[in-house]
Amino acid sequence: MDAVTLPREHMLAILREALPDGILLTGADEMERYTRDWSGDHFGLPLAVARPRSVDEVSALMRCCSLHGVPVVPQGGLTGLVGAAVAAPGGGEVVISLERMNRLRSISAIDFAMVVEAGCILEEAKRYAEAEDCILPITFGAQGSCRIGGNVATNAGGFNVLRYGMTRDLVLGLEVVLADGRVWNGLKLLRKDNRGYDLKQLFIGSEGTLGIVTAVSLKLFPKPTQVETALVGLRSVEDAMALYARARRECSDLLTAFELILRGGIEIALGARSGLRDPLSEVCPVYVLIEASAGGRVDLRAILQDFLISAEDLVVDGVVASSRAQGDQLWLLRELMVEAQGRGGRYLRTDVSVPISTLSGFVEDALAALSKSHPHALPVTYGHVGDGNIHLNVVPPVGMGAGEIDSLFHETEEVIFEVVDRYGGSLSAEHGIGKVKQNAFLKRIDEVSLDLAGRIKDALDPGAIMSRGRIFLPRAADSGSR
Ligand code: LAC
Ligand code: ZN
Repeated sequence: MDAVTLPREHMLAILREALPDGILLTGADEMERYTRDWSGDHFGLPLAVARPRSVDEVSALMRCCSLHGVPVVPQGGLTGLVGAAVAAPGGGEVVISLERMNRLRSISAIDFAMVVEAGCILEEAKRYAEAEDCILPITFGAQGSCRIGGNVATNAGGFNVLRYGMTRDLVLGLEVVLADGRVWNGLKLLRKDNRGYDLKQLFIGSEGTLGIVTAVSLKLFPKPTQVETALVGLRSVEDAMALYARARRECSDLLTAFELILRGGIEIALGARSGLRDPLSEVCPVYVLIEASAGGRVDLRAILQDFLISAEDLVVDGVVASSRAQGDQLWLLRELMVEAQGRGGRYLRTDVSVPISTLSGFVEDALAALSKSHPHALPVTYGHVGDGNIHLNVVPPVGMGAGEIDSLFHETEEVIFEVVDRYGGSLSAEHGIGKVKQNAFLKRIDEVSLDLAGRIKDALDPGAIMSRGRIFLPRAADSGSR
């Protein structure tokens, strides 16, 4: 046995003794699907994969790991795409997959609330809500794979944020296993509660660095009885944002999505599947996918149609879906575009945000800066512009080698982030920092924020075993910290 095998076997023996049978996976084959995220761009080598079935088992695992200083990384559906939930490459971390803790614990249409375990797949949780004639309005392409615990840990966004808010706005309470194995029971159904600090907020968006979310109490909303979808073609992003400003008011604030897609994105979607036709008769440089939802007696289709007619100075061409199926076809373009931009291999993903009022100027400046600095790279631009959030991605030219791609990503990301800085924006509006955005994030963070975050980390995870090196760097003085 060599020096690496010994401590590994030793650690595994300790873990096996602390846990009931059937929780740990240690063979390379059985661990394989926990080693790589959805994009395939990020992977790691776990010491072991633990798949606890209950909060008590998570607690026992964390007690053991904290006692022996074994680093852990909680894992959901692996769709965060910033390298936060895959193990480090060195083989020293225990991946804690929450996938077996996926039960619905309770649901009440009167409270408009549900309690689900962290490993519940988002789409499944949405189905539970719909069975009670409610909705859980966290909605995005990865909802068939991502898990609620991951949505909380990353404060997931998506298509419906402009109406219902980010995941943070939908969480009523949490159950969290702390680094030392204690269980913090902050699950509640209360809408209003001002007793002291709102501790759950610390864990939301913490990307696994402060505790392991094991269950979540979530707000639900009445299920809309009407949903209308339109795709509109426009001359510019500026016109799209002018349309948005009017749509909020003139559609009685009933918008549930307002997605911008530049022509290049539509072309990627059309090329992704044979038989797809251009959705509008005119080819336009800019498109928006609009969704409005309502219940009760309002005539939603008339509201949307009248609005689009009144906006004829901005709208070049458009279609209002005549059925849910046709609406789904329009949304399919959005989904296919996201899937297909990666078919040629790796591409740079960004998820930046700027104030809504400056979004069109930002897009224009960022695209101009990219075409000047890297004219051969292909930018793909789309986003949830009702929230000021844009995905400005970069696809490398065909045939570029791996090393050159790395440099291209590094350089173009900086070009984009410098424009974000000028607009007072955020370099991560949705997916978080993980490892992928860490350098750029730490380069820009102010001293006070860094100090406060460090103190919180030290207080909650004094042994620095939770998702070490994600968001923040391990502290230099003792690499066992942060
Ligand atoms: C989206 C995800 C990738 O907007 O954030 O499709
Ligand atoms: Zn997004």
